[in-house]
Amino acid sequence: MGKRSRWGRRRGDNRIESKSGYALIQDAETDIETDEISGFAIEEDGLSIPEFETEQDKFETEDTPSLLAPASGDAPRVFALVGATGGVGTTSLATQLAHEFAVSISSGSASRSHPADPKVCLIDLDFESGACAHHLDLLPSLTLEDLSGSPEQIDTAFTQALVSTHESGVALLATPNSIGANARVNPKTVMAMLDAAAELFDVVIIDLPRYMQPWTMSVMRAVDVLGLTCELTIPSLHAARERLANIKMTSNGSINAHVILNKFERRSFKNTLRLNDAETALGQSVLSTLCLDPDTTREALNCGEPAGAIRPEARYVKDVRKLAQLLRQEQINPLALAA
Ligand SMILES: Nc1ncnc2c1ncn2[C@@H]1O[C@H](COP(=O)(O)OP(=O)(O)OP(=O)(O)O)[C@@H](O)[C@H]1O
Ligand SMILES: [Mg+2]
Repeated sequence: MGKRSRWGRRRGDNRIESKSGYALIQDAETDIETDEISGFAIEEDGLSIPEFETEQDKFETEDTPSLLAPASGDAPRVFALVGATGGVGTTSLATQLAHEFAVSISSGSASRSHPADPKVCLIDLDFESGACAHHLDLLPSLTLEDLSGSPEQIDTAFTQALVSTHESGVALLATPNSIGANARVNPKTVMAMLDAAAELFDVVIIDLPRYMQPWTMSVMRAVDVLGLTCELTIPSLHAARERLANIKMTSNGSINAHVILNKFERRSFKNTLRLNDAETALGQSVLSTLCLDPDTTREALNCGEPAGAIRPEARYVKDVRKLAQLLRQEQINPLALAA
């Protein structure tokens, strides 16, 4: 039994019963009853992402080709991840997911694929504070100039020449970070590079910047699955819900967005939210949970390696493996997961 606080309540036992008292959850329940989840962000806080309204509008016109469109009948193979809040583990996940796909593809092929002939590409689209190259301890070969110029210069040969390859067989496309770079790239050139990467590699994993850019909706529409990473905390769930609402509103359901809960503790403590609280708040099922595993993820960062290269049997690595299997299933679609 917890010690009594000066207010006469037992420490830790006061919030579990009043969980439904969280504004986050109450609000979601009201939204679900009135079937107006997508209106939340618009009416409550006017969250409107200014893509298509900026100077770069011209890049987002209808003549922007629908690049990366998945070939019908194929297993999903182009995935993007975006964090609902900072530091939720999006880049760690992108790195490990790429490693997982690289390992599973190479172990599945008769001749073990050589790292010089990678099948998986990790693309860091955060040109200001990206960290995929740092997580893999690689030097980026792509430059901002490559992505600011004309899309005509981008083809598969050019793209192939700009990858840095990790010894695990993950190809990386990333630029050195530069302030203001996310707004300076040419969206059509970025899309042309993604298109070339989709042609070159079996699986493409994209780490998106957390703040929306004029081109991010185009990328989100083009990928097979968008993973929105968040944690089981009130601020992170609020941010995830706002982001989902915004995605639904702006994409008219054309983005296949799913929530991935990272740093998830299976044991339920008092004063903690539970998975079903998160699903109520989000208005949809969570695609996958990844356990809290600070030792493995820290060691990976310390070594500049994907977690799976150091601890292939760690709980975090196994959770990412399960996610990779789920992502490759064709059936994943937003309606199937609606709570
Ligand atoms: N499952 C996990 N368990 C424990 N710690 C984790 C887990 N996943 C990631 N971390 C840790 O969280 C921190 C942030 O990770 P990471 O840089 O991948 O997050 P991010 O969402 O990409 O951050 P940013 O918003 O800066 O891009 C790192 O210290 C990482 O080791
Ligand atoms: Mg990151």
